[in-house]
Amino acid sequence: MVAIIFSESSRTFWLENGTVTYAFGIGESGMPEHLYFGKKIGHELVCGDYPSGGEAQPIKRESENGMVFTPNSVPYELHLPLGGDYSEPGLIVRRDNGSRRLDLRYTGYRIFETKPPVPGLPSLRDGQTLQIDLEAADIRVTLSYSILDDCNALARNMRIENRGTEAVSIDRAYSFSLPVPDGKYDTVCLHGMAAQEAQIQRLPLGYGIFTVDSKRGYSGAVMNPFLAICDQNAGEETGTVYGFGLIYSGSFAIKAQKKAAGTVSISGGINDFDFSWRLEPGACFDTPEAVLVFSEAGLGGMSRSFHTAYRSHLIPRRFAHAPRPIVINNWEATRFAFTAEKIRGIIDGAAGTGIDTFVLDDGWFGIRNDITSGLGDWEVNEAKLGGSLDDLIAYVHSKGMRFGLWFEPEMVNRNSRLYHMHPDWALQTPDEEPVEARGQLVLDLSRPEVVDHIADAINHVIRGHAIDYVKWDCNRALSEGYSLALPPERQKETFHRHVLGLYALFHKIVDANPDILFEGCASGGSRFDAGILYFFPQIWTSDNTDMVARTRIQYGTSLCYPPSAMSCHVTASPNRRASHITPFESRAALAHQGPTGYELDTAKLSVQEKAAIPLQIDAYREMEALIQSGDLYRLASPFEGNVFAQMFAARDQSRGVLTAVRILWNYNEPVSPLYPRGLNPERRYLLRETGQIRLGSTWMYAGVTPCFQNRDCDAVTLHFDNADD
Ligand code: DGJ
Repeated sequence: MVAIIFSESSRTFWLENGTVTYAFGIGESGMPEHLYFGKKIGHELVCGDYPSGGEAQPIKRESENGMVFTPNSVPYELHLPLGGDYSEPGLIVRRDNGSRRLDLRYTGYRIFETKPPVPGLPSLRDGQTLQIDLEAADIRVTLSYSILDDCNALARNMRIENRGTEAVSIDRAYSFSLPVPDGKYDTVCLHGMAAQEAQIQRLPLGYGIFTVDSKRGYSGAVMNPFLAICDQNAGEETGTVYGFGLIYSGSFAIKAQKKAAGTVSISGGINDFDFSWRLEPGACFDTPEAVLVFSEAGLGGMSRSFHTAYRSHLIPRRFAHAPRPIVINNWEATRFAFTAEKIRGIIDGAAGTGIDTFVLDDGWFGIRNDITSGLGDWEVNEAKLGGSLDDLIAYVHSKGMRFGLWFEPEMVNRNSRLYHMHPDWALQTPDEEPVEARGQLVLDLSRPEVVDHIADAINHVIRGHAIDYVKWDCNRALSEGYSLALPPERQKETFHRHVLGLYALFHKIVDANPDILFEGCASGGSRFDAGILYFFPQIWTSDNTDMVARTRIQYGTSLCYPPSAMSCHVTASPNRRASHITPFESRAALAHQGPTGYELDTAKLSVQEKAAIPLQIDAYREMEALIQSGDLYRLASPFEGNVFAQMFAARDQSRGVLTAVRILWNYNEPVSPLYPRGLNPERRYLLRETGQIRLGSTWMYAGVTPCFQNRDCDAVTLHFDNADD
């Protein structure tokens, strides 16, 4: 049950659901001051006397009521620069005379039972919302807070409105700022690169500022737009953790600041590197939404709140909890070098196995036999396909499967008709050749005519053919923050305008084709963020499909994204990248931890492998509802040892499935027990694989030791079924 309560007498706001409370009050300074975010509490806290500890030579100011306070000691909900507050500012507004003073004061609030969307940006679809207004003579700032009823998550964002007669420049507009109680904290973030996404880094938070960010114009794999701050004693299922995620796919920053007095606060939003936004009179600027999570059950508790928030309140509802297609994708089998015969062989090999969708990857359009040409020309290459696209689709249908197609809409090759017609449509700096990456340039999505052109071209293909699934790729970061269509004083708006154009493009294509399942991709998981998940229910987790690497990538990604969003495929062995030889059934067990598929040459499968696929798919379909709607418990970390293990448990505690992979077989290495989670301690469960029936408490607290076979990357799956009725 969600409630937003305002106490007129103490000018205090309380947002609460069944488990958490978020509270702030309007203090003497006339600004909102943070009181609390954590486990649910009563309504006693009020803004108190301002502590002045930790300030050697405090800068003091006088409030309108004549009270003296130290701005640098006040835990504001929004920090402003200057005036003696040295916290990371959340908003910097610059006037044409150079002044950045902004004397905001609280003026009022509104409560919405239904959450208003953030204009032009993806945001949580649900939540009761509180908006408070802070006003200066010419600027109104609105802070929004939305609380969900089924997890410990809260969404925040900010709107800046120019109500004056002069334009101003916004040099920074973060989405949130949150002080956390004094303590000793670790930061946990996801770093990496393409094919090594979502690597977990945990470090003690020291004095100063720890930042995760991207300056690449997209979220990228180098740092994911996520940060957790956890008590140094917090573990996977114990201890206090605060998690922060941004529903944004562009350059971002999330910062944890520990000040001289030991106080810690977290803030973040659009990266202000090379950013500034000219706000004309009457115009508004909306920041992306940030999701704030509180967990008293360690990192696992934090993850489960993120999973619920994104799965039930962000991902398109039509697909959020529905069974997903099981695809056969040709990329790893053929790359660009496919022929009609080869493709038909792959389709034939998948037919009748339970695989239900064939996805034709890169290379079907324009002149596209390598990375150097064709992007931008979305016309079917019938010569390469050996017939029309409809012929191929009819063939797929005749085998009882549906059809999916790959696109990379945001990009263009120099060697394309589109580039020859519109060279100015690529992001570029005047008088300089734009920089290629993967042989391609980035189309300037800050230009509405470019967005319209792409939408028309892609919708033309989609509408002209029976397409059920689209893989939307994006294979490079941005390098030129310059649009030939913007005036010089607006160039620092280019990256954010590009992201707004991207979201407009998604709307034009995704909204127009509501029954098509769109899968995101960016050289694998290089744009695995909550902004994408608003439009696409799943994202290709990594181009690295080697089992050893995948244990880490999937484990790391699950920290803040639901497994139901993590597309995972069974590929060939030895692996194309790492050459590891791994058992077919183990590859399937690991790939079946998220929306799954196969990406190999089915024509080359052995008789035994082919016979195994229907059984693997039956097993996957049986546990799919747990992946879509159950709770994830991580049991053993591949970052810390030789075993990856996790368990999905039904919310009603009726069953659970545990999957463990021992990565390397080290002769005589002892195997430790795993401790299942999410079962009801008082109910009895049958362990299907052994026939033993025990209480949930026995399974969870005494543990179970997996019997790995003596081989590398052996996987064990254990099913715990309700044995009480
Ligand atoms: C990168 C993707 O991650 C791959 O799966 C594949 O679609 C290629 N792009 C195609 O160019």
